Amino acid sequence: MSKIVSISSDKIFIKKENIIPFLKNKNKSLPTKYLYDEIGSKLFEEICATKEYYLTRTEKEILDKNASDIIKTSKAQELFELGSGSSKKTKPLIFEALNENDLLTYFSFDISTKALKMSYNELKKISKKLNIKLLKGDFNNDLNKLSYSKKNRLFLFLGSTIGNFNNNLAEKFLKNISSIMKENDSFLLGVDKIKDKKIIHSAYNDKEGITMKFNKNILNVVNKEYSLNFNEDNFLHNAQYNSKKSQIEMYLESTTNQSITLPNNENVKITVGEKILTEISRKFSDNTLNILFNKASLSLVKSYTDNKKYFSLYLLKSKKYF
Ligand SMILES: C[S@@+](CC[C@H](N)C(=O)[O-])C[C@H]1O[C@@H](n2cnc3c(N)ncnc32)[C@H](O)[C@@H]1O
Repeated sequence: MSKIVSISSDKIFIKKENIIPFLKNKNKSLPTKYLYDEIGSKLFEEICATKEYYLTRTEKEILDKNASDIIKTSKAQELFELGSGSSKKTKPLIFEALNENDLLTYFSFDISTKALKMSYNELKKISKKLNIKLLKGDFNNDLNKLSYSKKNRLFLFLGSTIGNFNNNLAEKFLKNISSIMKENDSFLLGVDKIKDKKIIHSAYNDKEGITMKFNKNILNVVNKEYSLNFNEDNFLHNAQYNSKKSQIEMYLESTTNQSITLPNNENVKITVGEKILTEISRKFSDNTLNILFNKASLSLVKSYTDNKKYFSLYLLKSKKYF
């Protein structure tokens, strides 16, 4: 097993009092990153395999078809995947990059140790020419700590993880990526597009209830991290599509009047029907994306999509070199 290198500032975040504003706010929420512990990362893999979750299937289809073009266009000599998860879908890009280079380093960057382990196990047997590096960190806080590389890097941000960011955070993230890119670096962004809301709704409400388990698991994670007393049996999974904002809003809805004790020993009341936001998953139009790319000084090189135009991949360069 390759060593996991931590560049995380999470130790600073996990001060017990940091969770307080999220739960004292009138609109309660929990940080989305806590969906991904050992159990959450495994459940996410299971979600990807459900009939309803078209995102993974569709993005894989686009990657399988266009991997060669993406690697040739970007002239990638090194791959750097942010929020890699299991890296399963990335394999065609790795194969193509191995065809073009004598040696290849693939960086898997994720907040979840389980995801990094899954990534390593998925890729370890591919080739002796493949060097796998595992980095544990938070892509919203730790990008400035990434080491410099002389090689042409292709940064990957797949799975429509960008959809989990509100507009300000998405802009900040894209600006950060653009600022760390060198002249010959490229960035491949996977994005879920606006479509029939029934299709989107079912993707987050699968019949087997895996997304429900994934959502509720966040309570066990924050219980552990912050010594809280959530009981997952007192909550329902509630994922609704907000058409005005073009986003899925995933909540845990309280089935009873209850009280949670915060790390400062203060009690917070949660009333029956009250909802805690755990994740948003935005769906994008080309127009919204163009505005974001412009603000982040990213220039579009090529885009790739599927027959139904459900999902798109955007290959981008930093504008500072144009
Ligand atoms: C929606 S999943 C996508 C996984 C994979 N890229 C795919 O396309 O299937 C989001 C991934 O980002 C990771 N993640 C979530 N928040 C993170 C953060 N703040 N910093 C780094 N990784 C994070 C999760 O552990 C998970 O592997």
